[in-house]
Amino acid sequence: MAEAYAWWQTGVIYQVYPRSFFDSNNDGVGDIPGITRKLDYFSWLGVDALWLSPIFLSPMADFGYDISDYCAVHPLFGTLEDLDTLVHAAHQRDLKIILDYVPNHTSDEHPWFQEARSNRTNAKRDWYIWRDQAHDGGPPNNWVSQFGGRAWEFDALSGQYYLHLYDAKQPDLNWRNPEVRKAMYDVLRFWLDRGIDGFRVDALQGVVKDDLFRDNPPNPTWQTGDPPYLAQIGRYTENQPGLHEITQEMRAVVDGYKQRMLIGEIYLPMEQLVSYYGEQLDEIHLPFNFQFVTMRTWEAQAVRQIVDAYEAMLPPGAWPNWVLGNHDRTRIATRIGREQARIAQMLLLTLRGTPTCYYGEELNMQDVPVPLALIRDPMGKENPEHSRDLVRTPMQWDGSAHAGFCAAEVQPWLPVADDYQLFNVAAEKEDTRSMLTLTRTLLHLRRTQAALTIGDYRSLAIENESCFAYMRHYQEQRYLVVLNFSAREQVVQLSGQAQIVLSTHGDRTGSVDLSALHLRGNEGLLLAHLPDH
Ligand code: GLC
Repeated sequence: MAEAYAWWQTGVIYQVYPRSFFDSNNDGVGDIPGITRKLDYFSWLGVDALWLSPIFLSPMADFGYDISDYCAVHPLFGTLEDLDTLVHAAHQRDLKIILDYVPNHTSDEHPWFQEARSNRTNAKRDWYIWRDQAHDGGPPNNWVSQFGGRAWEFDALSGQYYLHLYDAKQPDLNWRNPEVRKAMYDVLRFWLDRGIDGFRVDALQGVVKDDLFRDNPPNPTWQTGDPPYLAQIGRYTENQPGLHEITQEMRAVVDGYKQRMLIGEIYLPMEQLVSYYGEQLDEIHLPFNFQFVTMRTWEAQAVRQIVDAYEAMLPPGAWPNWVLGNHDRTRIATRIGREQARIAQMLLLTLRGTPTCYYGEELNMQDVPVPLALIRDPMGKENPEHSRDLVRTPMQWDGSAHAGFCAAEVQPWLPVADDYQLFNVAAEKEDTRSMLTLTRTLLHLRRTQAALTIGDYRSLAIENESCFAYMRHYQEQRYLVVLNFSAREQVVQLSGQAQIVLSTHGDRTGSVDLSALHLRGNEGLLLAHLPDH
């Protein structure tokens, strides 16, 4: 069935945050051999590709998103050989490996930046974005950093400001410079030659900046409690002319190899986001669809509206994708609660398009409070209420010390959840009603039922405002998904007969009459629609 489809269309992606996955050498930090040791877990679970957050050489000001050598592995994570071993072992199991690619900025400790800042006439000066101070002696314009504060840092040595849309230790590269582009495309080739299957491209929306450096306007929809960087609209720092040319060039590099792909971290409104598939589908294979991550209210009608609008907006031939969480955002089970997180999981894994799962979601892990003194994230140091450490805590493997993430006598780099005895792989494997069992069953169904892997999607008009119902259809196969977004019992009226294949409660099978379909509070059902006759 899947011949005409690429692996990144039929498959499911799993995001590993390497620092927190499994510590193989007892230093309290997860590493590459640790991921290799856990490969059987991914095969058992039934995912197809692993995306690893950065494992490159870095001073770790932003935990690897500040890179000082794009082609070297940080010793904390292992060696280049360890990575080769992981790729080889993964491929033997039919698992793909996707690396993070961070084009917007390097570390200030990258030799390129060291050269650039050494003096104004250095050949690499123009590899970064330097501006003189404004007439009043302040920064060149009003742009703010994603982590809070100004996006400009004054470099006393050369008497100019450099731009950093993130931390001051992450100077932005100047992608208008052809030498930068060439060097950065060589980075892609370096990893593609080593057998890497794809890249998740970091912070793409801001890679090109306004060439006139105009001030950004204030954001009228900003609410108290929102991260400070949202107080400004990125009119001159996001989605700028010239960015599509760059995504086309990145794509051309990747297309020089067989079966490779690009995922784009692009935080933009939907109509702009979908333009990054490319007019000829010649840009990003999967521009991340963050709608379930950024939406403010988790309600049936809001979700239906998002899915239908997105499906309608996709350019012809473009492949959809969905995601519930990542290493930057509050975990889904914290945002909507553990009961509704099961609904979200059924939704994620039965919609049309490629799902990306964040590690721990399959266990129903929640954010872990991190005491002020232990905050590591630069965003958290600036604004403790926006710390991302909470969603990056150690993976919970079993009921032993530190949830089996590292040896008992070692301190993990971030605290382990208090409730890890209940929520861990070993315990949930044994429990037929756990989130892990639900996830694994959904992944199995998704893989084996063509309607779920590649079938059409159609939402169904129902009277009940608390529920969302849709159909997945391929040839003779018709699956129906009905999700109850409320904690109360609901009745949904459809027509015909169906067979319950799976309930999110894990305890219900048998045939049902769809004219009065009862769902318990927080229940989702996957049903095989039976032919009318
Ligand atoms: C992306 C990453 C985030 C990082 C930032 C700067 O948004 O997901 O973790 O801090 O880019 O690289």
